[in-house]
This record gives sequence, C-alpha cells and structure tokens, in this order.
Amino acid sequence: MEANNNRGFTSNIGAILAAAGGAVGLGNVWRFPYMLGSNGGGAFLLVYVFFVLLIGIPLMMSEFIIGRRAQRNVVGAFRVLSPKHKGWMLVGIFGIVCAFLIYAFYSVVAGWTLNYIVLAAGGRLAGQTPDRVTQIFSDFTQGSFWPLCNQFLFLALTGLVVMMGVQKGIEKVSKILMPVLFILLLLMCVRSVTLGAGAKEGLSFLFKPDFSKITGSCILSALGQSFFSMSIGMGAMITYGSYIRKEDKLFNTSVWIAVCDSLVAILAGIVIFPAVFAFSMDPASGPELVYIVLPNVFNSMPGGVVFAVVFFLLLGIAALTSTISLLEILVAAAVEELHWTRRRASLVCSIVVFVIGAFCTLSFGPLKNMTIFDSTIFELFDKITASYLMPIGALMLTIFLGWFMPKAEVKDELSNGGAIKARAFELYYFVLRYVAPIALVIILITGIVG
Ligand code: PFF
Repeated sequence: MEANNNRGFTSNIGAILAAAGGAVGLGNVWRFPYMLGSNGGGAFLLVYVFFVLLIGIPLMMSEFIIGRRAQRNVVGAFRVLSPKHKGWMLVGIFGIVCAFLIYAFYSVVAGWTLNYIVLAAGGRLAGQTPDRVTQIFSDFTQGSFWPLCNQFLFLALTGLVVMMGVQKGIEKVSKILMPVLFILLLLMCVRSVTLGAGAKEGLSFLFKPDFSKITGSCILSALGQSFFSMSIGMGAMITYGSYIRKEDKLFNTSVWIAVCDSLVAILAGIVIFPAVFAFSMDPASGPELVYIVLPNVFNSMPGGVVFAVVFFLLLGIAALTSTISLLEILVAAAVEELHWTRRRASLVCSIVVFVIGAFCTLSFGPLKNMTIFDSTIFELFDKITASYLMPIGALMLTIFLGWFMPKAEVKDELSNGGAIKARAFELYYFVLRYVAPIALVIILITGIVG
C-alpha cells in the first residue's frame, strides 16, 4: 500500500495557505521585477495579468483536479487516472525533471537571502552608496565558498523540514509571517513612491504600457513568469491538490491563490521601480536587480537597518515555503512510487539538487564565461524552466485533462461530486480544451522563432 503520511489538509484555509505559501516566494519579489524590468515594463505587466486570468487560474484548477482525483503525487496521478495508457506518466516525470532544475537555481537565490540577513544585521549595507551596494553584491556572488555555503544551508534547512514532515509547523508560522511580509511591503511602497525625483518615472514604467514593447519574447517571458509565480505546469499543484479536502472548492481556492500571488508581485514592483529611477539604476540589470535596489531603499528609511533585517528574513521564509513545495514534489513521488522513506527521499533529492545547483551558483563567478546560447548556466536554467518547460508541461496537462479524461469526470471533481454548482464549468472547459492549448502552441512557436 502506498502511503504518504502527510496526506491531507485539515481545513480549506490550511490548503490555501500551504499552496499560496508555495506560490508566493522569490518568484514574486525577485523574479517578477527583474523580468518586468528586462522585458518592457508596463507592457509586460499587462500581458502577465492577462495570462494569470486566462490561463493561470484555469490551469491551477486543472492541476488541483488531477491531484485530488488521483490522490497521488505528480507521477502516480497519471498512472492512476490513465491505467491503460502508461505513456502519460511521462508528463509526471517531465514535472519531476522540471522541479529538479528549478530547485537547482532557486536555491542559489534563496541562499542569497541568508547572506543578506547577515549583511543587513551586521550593518554592512547601511550608509553605502548605490555603487558600493552593487559592488557588495558582485563581490559576494562572484566568490565560490560563501555562495555555496548559503545554498547548502538553505537546501539542508528545507530538507530537514520535509524530512521531519513538519510542513504543518511551517505553515502555522507562515500564516502569521506572510501577512507581516505583506505589511512590510506596503510600508516600503510608501517609502519608495515618496522618494521624489524618479518615483513618478518608476510608477509609469511599471503601470503605463508601451504597446510597441509587446514582442514575442515579452509575451513568452510574461507567460513563463505567470507559470513560475503560480507554480503551475510541472505538478506542484497536482501534489498539493492531492492534499486538498474533497469538500473544498477548487475554483475559489485557485482564485484566492492567484490574487494573493499577483498582489505580492505588483507590490514588489511598486517598491522596486520608483527606487530604480530615483537612484538612477538600470531596470534591466537582470537577476541582481532587487538585491542592488532594496538596500538603497532601506538606507533612505528611518530605522532602515531593522527593516532590512526583517525584510530579508521574511523573504527567506517566503523562499523556504517555496523550496519546501519544490522538494515535496520530489519526495512525494519517491515515497509513493519508489517506496522510499521520507528521510531517504529528502536526503537523496537534496544532494542531487546541490550537485546540479552548485554549477548555477558558480556561474556567477568561476564559471561565468561558460555560456550556452549566450546564457550562463544559471540564466539558462532560469529561462528554460519558466519560458519553455512549464508552458510545455502546461500544454500536456491541458491535453490530458481536456481531451483524454472524460468530461463527466472533470466536472464531477470540480463540482465536488455534484455537491456544488460549477457554474462556469462550460467556460472553463472551453478554455481548457481550445483556448489554452492553442494559445500555448502559438506563444511557444513565436517565442522560439522570434
Ligand atoms: N512559485 C514560486 C515563486 O514564485 O517563488 C516558485 C516555484 C515554487 C515554482 C514551486 C515551482 C514550484 F513547484
């Protein structure tokens, strides 16, 4: 008997918070601003929001449907729902590969938060000029030992939590801390928009779309960002779906998560861009954007040192709930499919991720010149997973649920066995069957060609 000792949330709010905790993370605060800054500002935001509504929410519902119906991990779900056509399990395995790759580069940036907690607490960021803040970032990331140590620490911390099956404890903690992060972001927004000179420019960069910037690559990046941020297209939400109670409403749960997730991203944008312009920085500076802009914001705030420490601590916790969800995808599959213990699964997966992830860390320093298609290993992992693998995974999921699973079963799961009215079901089903797959194919092709 395959058993996963952690299966099942005890309340809907617990399920929402755990899935939202997995969704809200570095993707919102770190990746969203850097993607938006490099891909056309307001135009990117517009396309991003469009995708969250059009494809993101229906896709999240679809993953929940698959996971809850099957009561299994990402690989087992396809085995259970399609016993005769074993080939669908490849979609699950695809999700596993994707989770490994994301975890490998995500843990690099998660490690940075640890370093920044220490830097902030030691007062080493306080009172520095913007140039010096940028220098501190490159000095740190170009090294090998400390970035690797931080990444290792983060992986170990995540591994311990998942190994001990104490996610529930973390969920309780984050139930309190995530609203604190939200409030802190609000306070930082106030500071940022009152920075004077550049603030207005920053807000128009974020909110005023320049339609000429909507290119194939902007569209593909926005699509990828929406998937990355909502953790969809690779089975994270299938895994969480298997833990959601039968009586919970999958539509409402998905909408809640999408709203929280996008709100945090937009708040992060309101903090970052006014500051970018006020301090005359480049919005397209890439992965370092947030780490070189935020210390300047803190430096301009009264009590900035305290704010900085608390902020990086909370960002670290937000990253932790996301790395937990990444590792949980892998561990749930290993426990249920390979009959490993949680301990062994957590340990082996974390070690594999560290080995791959070390290359991502070193690609800021010693391996900087090792590029493939003009990207460093880190950039390649980041881009390939979000812009290609997640949309391809999503495409396969929509085909599975829209064309392979019987419609009645999909409706049964979404309506909790008929207990609730799935009012917009036909609309959802139309998007699932036609709109989403066609849009995904077109975007992928134009993104690759253009
Ligand atoms: N959604 C997370 C974030 O925005 O930080 C990243 C992520 C977590 C992606 C878990 C995929 C995943 F399975």
